[in-house]
Formats: sequence, structure tokens, C-alpha cells
Amino acid sequence: MTSAAGWSAGYVTDTAYMRGYYHEQSPLQLALAALLMGVQTDLPGPSDEVSYLELGCGQGFGATVLAAANPGWRITAVDFNPAHIAAARRGAAELGLANIRFLEADLASLPEDPLMAEVPQADVASLHGVWSWVSPEVRAGIVRLLRARVKPGGLVHVSYNALPGWQGALLLQRLVREAGRRLAHGSIEQARAGLGLVHELMAAEAAGLAKAPRVTDILRRLEQAAPDYLAHEYMNSSWAPCWHADVAADLAAAKLDYIGSARLLSNFDDLMLTDAQRAIANRFADPLMRELVVDACNEPTLRHDIYVRGTRRLSTGARDAALEAVTLALPMPPEEMVYAVNVPAGRASLSEAYYHPMIEHLAERPCTVGELLSLPALAGHARNPAEVVGMLVGSGQALVLARPGAPMNNVSRHLNALTRARELKPDTMRRVSAMACPALAGGLPTALAHFYVAERFAAAGGIDATDFDTEIWARQLAPADTPAEDIAALAKQMADEVRRRGKIWRWLGIA
Ligand SMILES: C[S@@+](CC[C@H](N)C(=O)[O-])C[C@H]1O[C@@H](n2cnc3c(N)ncnc32)[C@H](O)[C@@H]1O
Repeated sequence: MTSAAGWSAGYVTDTAYMRGYYHEQSPLQLALAALLMGVQTDLPGPSDEVSYLELGCGQGFGATVLAAANPGWRITAVDFNPAHIAAARRGAAELGLANIRFLEADLASLPEDPLMAEVPQADVASLHGVWSWVSPEVRAGIVRLLRARVKPGGLVHVSYNALPGWQGALLLQRLVREAGRRLAHGSIEQARAGLGLVHELMAAEAAGLAKAPRVTDILRRLEQAAPDYLAHEYMNSSWAPCWHADVAADLAAAKLDYIGSARLLSNFDDLMLTDAQRAIANRFADPLMRELVVDACNEPTLRHDIYVRGTRRLSTGARDAALEAVTLALPMPPEEMVYAVNVPAGRASLSEAYYHPMIEHLAERPCTVGELLSLPALAGHARNPAEVVGMLVGSGQALVLARPGAPMNNVSRHLNALTRARELKPDTMRRVSAMACPALAGGLPTALAHFYVAERFAAAGGIDATDFDTEIWARQLAPADTPAEDIAALAKQMADEVRRRGKIWRWLGIA
């Protein structure tokens, strides 16, 4: 359901959108992706003042994590739903955050509104989950805003539902929305009712659903989906998946050039395309055509595109020098390193001879990519920092430290404790949120139960602790009537997490 007064222009406003942190929005991740693509942009240094702008920020959790982890940055986040902005401002006030501003404004008209004076020039702007869910008028407002407020050389991240990935499921969305509106009241109930009708039509062998390639997968995934996600994904009037080239054409009006994906592995042709597909893609010099071929071959349903306002190409030497200066840390014990990763073109294997010495070295302490490439065991191997960063960070097997050795700050600690207190319940222990962390200049994805483990472990003295009992922690966390064997299982999971993460928490200043 949308607003009775009509201010929502068909966007769902009767239920708040869930709090989430998405690392694709982090300025460090975006700058790293740009660097990998050979585009000049500065990785935010330890004391750089970054101006970050988020459009359609929901309840502002992602922006708040960035503000807490980066007290020297200036964060501005905009949403038109007053309930979202009230919740976001309250969260920031609880933390005493002085470097974040939440603005209540409609993106369709903000560029011409006096409130625009409060939107600063941005080094990085991001809109996640907005572009393909809002009307053409709102998208046009976003383009005018980006044109006016992204600094020359600045980066823009935009995620959207993509075509042809959604092609087979257009009918599914239409049915959910149209039937839902007629069957129930309130967006969440409407989405549920609409989905119910889709299931009935599937059972009745409606060809448009039963024969569509993606529908069964989507319906299976939706069984686990949060109700507010369902409402915001399916019940908006202007839901319209987009072609990459059309988004690029719209953003060109803000002088923005497409440079690559915030998902690092997506930028490597040999991971995204088979040999035959690559031979076709390589016939075209136009990057828009490369994206069309990649989308045709992989059908992603969500794209995370990065644009730059004014492309400055780096020489390969300059790019590699910048990548060699990047500091990596291992987020898991070395024995968990996976040397074969599933990618669209099949399975990418990471040479053990090449990567094993790096992982062993990283198991001791964080170090730069240059240091890894200079390990004696790698003598004679090609020095390819882009591959190392792309594969290790892109596969989630290394973290980039923006501020190696930076301690935790009080506001991040406070935010992490509040996230745990607010969101950790018996049925949400495995749900992943993000811990704010200054060393990462952003968030560390962590299951909610492990927020608690990290807190208890820090209180016990961290990696040097000898005197702690995870069974006591498990008993404190689990409901009173939990059977003994479930307590024992939880205690074991907690002990495993300490073993897996103890070192990384130390390196990140968390425990
Ligand atoms: C799917 S949510 C995504 C929220 C957040 N970016 C995230 O990923 O968690 C889309 C957001 O866009 C906001 N929005 C929709 N139309 C808008 C408009 N015209 N002006 C400003 N915000 C808008 C909604 O209120 C909602 O918070």
C-alpha cells in the first residue's frame, strides 16, 4: 500500500524497509573496483575526508555503519519516507554521531528544493535498491541530483533489477502486485496474497509461470524472504527491471561513465564467459556491447554498476603499484581457503602453488599485496596484483584493510552492541548483519549470534584470553527452556567462531 495523500507516487510506504549493510556501497570497495578496472581514483586513505551521499537510504543502517567506522567522513543520506528518516535520525542520535545527516526529501524534486543546499558535493554516491523500483520522474530527479552533486572524478554506485535476468519473471511480479492489491489490505499482506495466487496458478499449470525458467527458483527463494522485502520488491507501481545500456544512457546526462561492477569477480571476462562466449564478446570494442553479451550469458537479476564522473585511465604500471600497496587480511583460518570457486563460466581454480604461500603468510598477520608477491616461494611466478586482489577479495577470502592497525572506536563498539541488542533473537542467530569497524572503513559481515561471541570474547581479553567458557555464553543467550544438547551445540559453534575469527578480530581491533 502506498500513501493515502499520494506523496509516495506509488512507492510502498506503509511498512519500513529492513535494515541492511551492503558492502558494494562502501567507498573502499568502489574505489578498489575502479582501480582494478584501471580507472584513476584514490582509495580512501586513513585520514582522508570522504563525502559520501546515499540516495534512498531506508532506515539508514548502511550509512550509519559508514559514519561510525569513519568519524572523519561526512555522510549525507536521503529518503522520502519520514518513518525511515525518523528511525535513522534516532539511531544516529543514540550514538551521538556528528558526521551524518539524514534528509527527508523526494528525489523527484530535491534538485530544485531549497533543501538541496544541504546536500554537499560528494566523492562517492550510492543508490541501492532504488533505481528500478521508482518512477521515471524520480529517476530523472536522481540524474539531475548526481549531475549537480558528484565531484569531478567522483564515483557512483547504482544497483538495479536487470534485464534479461528478470525477463522470465515479469509475469510473476505483475501477478503478485495486481492480485495482491485486489485481495488484501497493507503491502505485506498484499504481497503474501499475490504470491498465494501465483502458487495456485502454478499448480493449475498456467503456462506463463510454469514454463518460465526462473519462476520456480524465485518462488523457492521467497519462502525465506523477509515480509518487508516482499512488499518493497513486489508492490511498487513503478517496478521496472532495466537494460544496462539504458541505465548507462540515463546516467550519461550526469556526465557519468560506466566503468565496471562493484562485485569484483564480475569484472573478469575469463570468469564470466566461456571461451566461445568470450570470442563473441571480444568482437566488440564498445563496453556496452560487452555488458549485453555478459548479461545474455549469465542473466544476473541484480546488477551493481559503478560509474565515474570523468574517466582518467591509469597505466598498467600505475594501477599495479597502487594495488601492491593494498593491505589484505585473512578473514578465516588458512585451512578453510577454497582453491576452486564457482563462477558463471564454470569453476575458477586458484593455483595452490601460487596462493598457498600467500595464505600461509596472511595467516600470521595482515600484509600488503606487494609483500605477498615478493615471498621467496613465489620467485619465478608472474607478478599480477590485479589477479591476487580480484580473486582473494572477490571470492571473500581476503579483506582489504583501509587503516591497518586502527583501533576500534567507541561509537562503532556502541553501534555493534546496539545492533546485537536490537536484532539478536532466538530465531535470528544466523542472520547476517555488519559490525562497524574503522580498520575496514566499513562493516564486517557477521552473524548476529557472533556479535555476541565477539563481545564476550573481547570482555574475556581477546586472543590472549585463557579463561572463558562458551557454554556459559550459550546458556546466557539461549531461551531458558533450551534443551541441554542444543546448548552444547551452540557452545561448540561459539568456540568454533572464536577459533576461526579470534585473530581477525584482533587485527581489526574488535576483540
Ligand atoms: C528497497 S528500499 C532500499 C533502501 C536501502 N537503500 C537499502 O538497500 O536497504 C528503497 C528506498 O527508496 C526510498 N524511496 C522510494 N522513492 C523515493 C523517492 N521518490 N525519494 C526518496 N526516496 C525514495 C524508499 O523509501 C526506500 O527506503
